[in-house]
Amino acid sequence: MKVAVLGAAGGIGQALSLLLKTQLPAGSELSLYDVAPVVPGVAVDLSHIPTAVTVEGFGVDALDKALTGADIVIIPAGMPRKPGMDRADLFAVNAGIIKTLAEGIAANCPKALVGVITNPVNGTVPIVAEVFKKAGTYDKNRVFGVTTLDVIRSEAFVAELKGLDVSQVKVPVIGGHSGTTILPLLSQVEGVTFSEEEVAALTPRIQNAGTEVVNAKAGGGSATLSMGAAAARFCLSLVKGLQGEDVVDYAYVDVDGGDADFFAHPVRLGVNGVAEILPYGKLSAFEEKAKNDMLATLNADIKEGVDFINA
Ligand SMILES: NC(=O)c1ccc[n+]([C@@H]2O[C@H](COP(=O)([O-])OP(=O)(O)OC[C@H]3O[C@@H](n4cnc5c(N)ncnc54)[C@H](O)[C@@H]3O)[C@@H](O)[C@H]2O)c1
Repeated sequence: MKVAVLGAAGGIGQALSLLLKTQLPAGSELSLYDVAPVVPGVAVDLSHIPTAVTVEGFGVDALDKALTGADIVIIPAGMPRKPGMDRADLFAVNAGIIKTLAEGIAANCPKALVGVITNPVNGTVPIVAEVFKKAGTYDKNRVFGVTTLDVIRSEAFVAELKGLDVSQVKVPVIGGHSGTTILPLLSQVEGVTFSEEEVAALTPRIQNAGTEVVNAKAGGGSATLSMGAAAARFCLSLVKGLQGEDVVDYAYVDVDGGDADFFAHPVRLGVNGVAEILPYGKLSAFEEKAKNDMLATLNADIKEGVDFINA
């Protein structure tokens, strides 16, 4: 199993790479790419951890080498938010970065499963899809927006609020990955009921949890450690799927005839990426309204990504 991390020297990239070095199956290769000159050093540093995962670092001129033979590519490359910015403010900088990296993937490992972390995910995933379509390599089952951070935050907050064992808490989160487009389905949390007041308070807390971190870091960036953990969890789900295990996880994927062209759903993963997009089930009246209210924003975010490549 070869996993490439693009943007591996950043806050998320380093946390993710550390977790993959210690958690990927024995015999895996970890390929670290970044434009920052420190990336070979990150690889050397990780290589001193005694696990049966090899690590190699690749600098700015070596994207092709970093990607050749990759089964999975995870992308946290790009600028994070500062206080006062929303994820959409990042589009101008990050769209071009994602385009270049997607072109590299199309040329060097067109069959890889690609997990996009770079914000705004609502728009960067459509950019990857459009670049692959132009290259003739697009397979909608192999491109994922990583929304796992919304899921793990929901698990943490629900367990905290209800005094539960967090390892047993499962919270479906659908939609997109910014503000109101993030839709936690609290009505579907097994064995737990929430009052209307709790739903009205917890839903926006989950939606704005990223801003909680951005403000607490006071100009020092956005979520990196929790995002590293989330990305590792999602990457390991992709690995299990590639190894033939039956695994279901949440991700922002290309959906035919769905609520929007891209929408986070539970997906069954397999040897070719998405094996099946599962329905998200019955929504409460609160969730149904929240979904209908956010679709215009999500569709505009998707269009911005598509237009960036085609306009
Ligand atoms: N999906 C999510 O839930 C989620 C959560 C948190 C952050 N993010 C996003 O992840 C991205 C990274 O955040 P971070 O905190 O790690 O930022 P960071 O600034 O710490 O790291 C970004 C890294 O990307 C590298 N980079 C820039 N341009 C590149 C290119 N063309 N090719 C390869 N590498 C390049 C930089 O050198 C840097 O090492 C941001 O866009 C942030 O908004 C997403």
